[in-house]
Amino acid sequence: MNPREADTLIVGGGIIGLSIAWRLARTGHRVTVLERDTAGAHASRMAAGMLAATAEVGYEEFDLYALCTHAVRRWPSFASELEEDSGIPVDFRSQGTMVVARDADAATALRRAYDFQQEHGFVVEWLSRAEALDREPFLSPRIAAAVYAADDHSVDNRAVIRALVAAIQKFGGHVEEQAEVTAVEMDASGRRHRVRTSQGGAEWTAPQIVLAAGAWSQGIAGLPDDVRPPVRPVKGQILTLRMEPPFRLEHVVRGARAYLVPRSDGRLVVGATSEEMGFNTELTAGGVWSILDGAWELVPGIHDLPVLETDVGLRPGSRDHQPIVGWSAAAGLFMATGHYRHGVILSSATADAAASVLLGGEMPAIMHPFSPSRFRKSA
Ligand code: GLY
Repeated sequence: MNPREADTLIVGGGIIGLSIAWRLARTGHRVTVLERDTAGAHASRMAAGMLAATAEVGYEEFDLYALCTHAVRRWPSFASELEEDSGIPVDFRSQGTMVVARDADAATALRRAYDFQQEHGFVVEWLSRAEALDREPFLSPRIAAAVYAADDHSVDNRAVIRALVAAIQKFGGHVEEQAEVTAVEMDASGRRHRVRTSQGGAEWTAPQIVLAAGAWSQGIAGLPDDVRPPVRPVKGQILTLRMEPPFRLEHVVRGARAYLVPRSDGRLVVGATSEEMGFNTELTAGGVWSILDGAWELVPGIHDLPVLETDVGLRPGSRDHQPIVGWSAAAGLFMATGHYRHGVILSSATADAAASVLLGGEMPAIMHPFSPSRFRKSA
């Protein structure tokens, strides 16, 4: 079979790989995404779709906070361009996040985080129990306090996946599903790298390859050993409930053990465990129990809601839990992986940055701290 040619091959059809493909395809660039399963079938589908720069980023993670803030600010235009290109609505919601403390102990920890966030310019507001309940009446009357993060938003990640595939195809790009990469041969001259897939041994060539295979990024066959990114799977169990009147949560709610993310169509995504279990994707009684117990103590009204789905996803966690975006040490191999808990939010910024570089432009300065080179000495 003759090899098929592309300007850029993207290994991995999750939200990161698809977003990069879309940004490239809309410029007329010939791009093909090779996905071992179906588009967005893993972490991208199991995600909750929180665009939470404030609530998801921890102490001292200043570079990540700056990147997530930048990515969230980009999301409204990213979502509307995507809706326009694909004709598919993505349920971008901007009600903000309520970070809730269930008791006095949790309130002390939350206050410490709030003071730190305020000191560093995060947009956060301290709410007493009464103020929090006034704003979100379905919170438990037993909570101690809450922080409102007005700049955190959410999106329906599954709709985003559908929209990305439609938009890529509209601009002539390809999304090859059931195409597991079985071999990558890097061409030392850097011009004609080859990728073979399980699709009847189909072969593709391109001058540049993007590694965006999420939790599987480290194990892709044929990658030079010294460029394999230090990315591991971090298991997340997650549930979807159906909100039934009079229950209607408006805000994203998060506590120490669970988060709840409402969709405009009445679904309520409740997540998620965070487990070091390798590639194990079994749903467990303890996992489901801990999510529901953690969610119920914040929002007791979920008790009678029907369960629509249970899912398990594998987040791609890098060694320092920050994304890996930029050229690897192998000429022509670009990394876009390791987005850990931030894949949906960072898809906007990663796609812009990657497309800029892959089209011959500059890497935006905000992405410099996330270069793969930080792992080179000790990988
Ligand atoms: N960003 C939410 C999660 O990883 O569970």
